[in-house]
Amino acid sequence: MIVTTADLFKLAYGNYAVGAYNINNMEQALGLFQGGIKAQAPLIIQLSKGARQYAGATMIEGIIRAAEQMYPEAVFAVHLDHGDEATCYDCIDSGFFSSVMIDASHAPFDENVATTSRVVERAHAKGLSVEAEIGQLGGVEEDIKVDEKNAHLTDPNEALMFVERSGCDSLAVAIGTSHGAYKFKGKQGLRLDRLAEIQGALRGFPLVMHGSSSVPQAEVARINAAGGKLDPSASGVQEEDFAKAVPLGVTKVNIDTDGRLVWYRVHRESFQDQPELIDFRKPGKAFVAAYSDFIVHKSQVLGCAGKLPEVRAALSGK
Ligand code: 13P
Repeated sequence: MIVTTADLFKLAYGNYAVGAYNINNMEQALGLFQGGIKAQAPLIIQLSKGARQYAGATMIEGIIRAAEQMYPEAVFAVHLDHGDEATCYDCIDSGFFSSVMIDASHAPFDENVATTSRVVERAHAKGLSVEAEIGQLGGVEEDIKVDEKNAHLTDPNEALMFVERSGCDSLAVAIGTSHGAYKFKGKQGLRLDRLAEIQGALRGFPLVMHGSSSVPQAEVARINAAGGKLDPSASGVQEEDFAKAVPLGVTKVNIDTDGRLVWYRVHRESFQDQPELIDFRKPGKAFVAAYSDFIVHKSQVLGCAGKLPEVRAALSGK
């Protein structure tokens, strides 16, 4: 059942965060739906511009619609991740998406407000909600690369002004994370103090954490043991921090890199352990099972595991 992101946020705010997972192919879709049902968790499926180009917008939409039929118990929203203005309009007009993210965070404040307002107007007219971003995360996401020196935390007063002026429905905040596998050096971590200040300025307003993969050391070690060359200093968000972020207004947590690590671990180990094999369905099936387990685990640490019955009951027939 496809639902609106806004409805999911109303139920989640202050109680749990919903995992937002980037997918690109059929195997990820199968693992995601199976994991969501096993965990009894609502889901947000994120499609990036790159994912829509990779699979083809029609193909990736078809995969998700097929999964919806195969797993009728699932409750999920479909969200555009890091859209530019043109991609936002394309997704709004497609009739398939629950929400879009307009990412104009690299532009000056007034330009970010103006771009976001235009997208909000078009989205609201069709019943979609809009996520926007203020502040800048480091790392690479789609076509945008932000050096650490240009990354900056979200300013709470600016965030309030931005929400009031742009009319956006949720806000991605920069609180120390970055996209990709290399988030923190030394003892750095999430700036929960800054998150608390942002929530103080924006009471009851849904906040979104990007760059929230945990980059488990064990996963990196297994990938490297099977021929990978990831820097072993790779690190991510401590999973116990999610429970601290939820009461501070975080309702959506974006996870992409950790899912990629699962894909590489399963495939590298499969190629290494069975070099004689030329049946791609074997690693494919192993990946679906591993990705499903991964979704169950993430749903538990985000607090949304077990919430599916109440979400379904609240949103059925809406
Ligand atoms: P990660 O790279 O930490 O998975 O973040 C993904 C993300 O924020 C997508 O918008």
